[in-house]
Amino acid sequence: ISRHIIQSGGKRIRPLLVLLSAKVFGHKGDLSVRLAAIVELIHTATLLHDDVVDASELRRGKSTANAVWGNEPSVLVGDYLYSHAFRLMVDMDSMSIMDTLARSTNKIVQGEIKQLLNAHNPKTTEADYLEVIRCKTGELFKTSAELGAMVAGCSEEGRKTMAEFGMQLGTAFQITDDALDYHADIHKVGKNIGDDLAEGKPTLPLIYALQKCNADEAKIIEQSLMSGNRTHLSEILQIIESTQAMKYTRNVAQSMITKGLDCLRTLPASIYRDAL
Ligand code: IPE
Ligand code: IPE
Ligand code: MG
Ligand code: MG
Repeated sequence: ISRHIIQSGGKRIRPLLVLLSAKVFGHKGDLSVRLAAIVELIHTATLLHDDVVDASELRRGKSTANAVWGNEPSVLVGDYLYSHAFRLMVDMDSMSIMDTLARSTNKIVQGEIKQLLNAHNPKTTEADYLEVIRCKTGELFKTSAELGAMVAGCSEEGRKTMAEFGMQLGTAFQITDDALDYHADIHKVGKNIGDDLAEGKPTLPLIYALQKCNADEAKIIEQSLMSGNRTHLSEILQIIESTQAMKYTRNVAQSMITKGLDCLRTLPASIYRDAL
């Protein structure tokens, strides 16, 4: 099962963040490679669990582990990958690195739990949503960027800058993922479209559309969220269109990217900073 998900690829954007961040601060050696692997293992474990929680059937262009083998082995193999990551972490023999990773992993799970509490609730606000995505996705991006800086032995200020950059990038990334759930090409993203609606997840395009639409339209969205089904997906796509909810969603993500870029501007110029 580990091989099934790991060999199906993924963008590996979090390990890339670790490596680039380490290089920005002049790191030499391969400690950052180990950290990058740890971060990707944690990410992979969260995906195995997330697909069980979300009852998702497609991931990285393949059937999810839960669709092929069922929920039980997916949960256990997720635990196996988490604990493997923690073994690699202990071998690094750094209390501050372990502390950062342990806190971050704990936050990710808090995010997933908060999301579960918001599920099927049309009253979920934009602030509730932002809190969820900062935890479930922003945290690991933040930690990836921060760990690179830490392993390179940079100043406290550099560490904070990278942490802020990672958080802005990660939240913008999740907002984009949530937007793609409404309009992506399934072959390009390798995941099913409309999964979030089917799970009753109030993500930003829906939260905004609900604020701007008329009472009849609101009923359609509320009912779909509460019952968790995609029967009215095409009507909802039209409401998203007429309320310009996608444009709004894009702008929120864009303003985070702008803040992230502002963080980078304070760092020494290099090809690694440019890559970030
Ligand atoms: C998926 O993350 C989960 C989200 C935070 C949206 P990625 O989009 O980084 O997944 P892979 O690793 O590239 O498949
Ligand atoms: C991201 O949320 C999950 C984690 C960060 C664990 P999603 O549920 O939106 O991710 P996908 O769309 O299934 O990849
Ligand atoms: Mg999911
Ligand atoms: Mg998603």
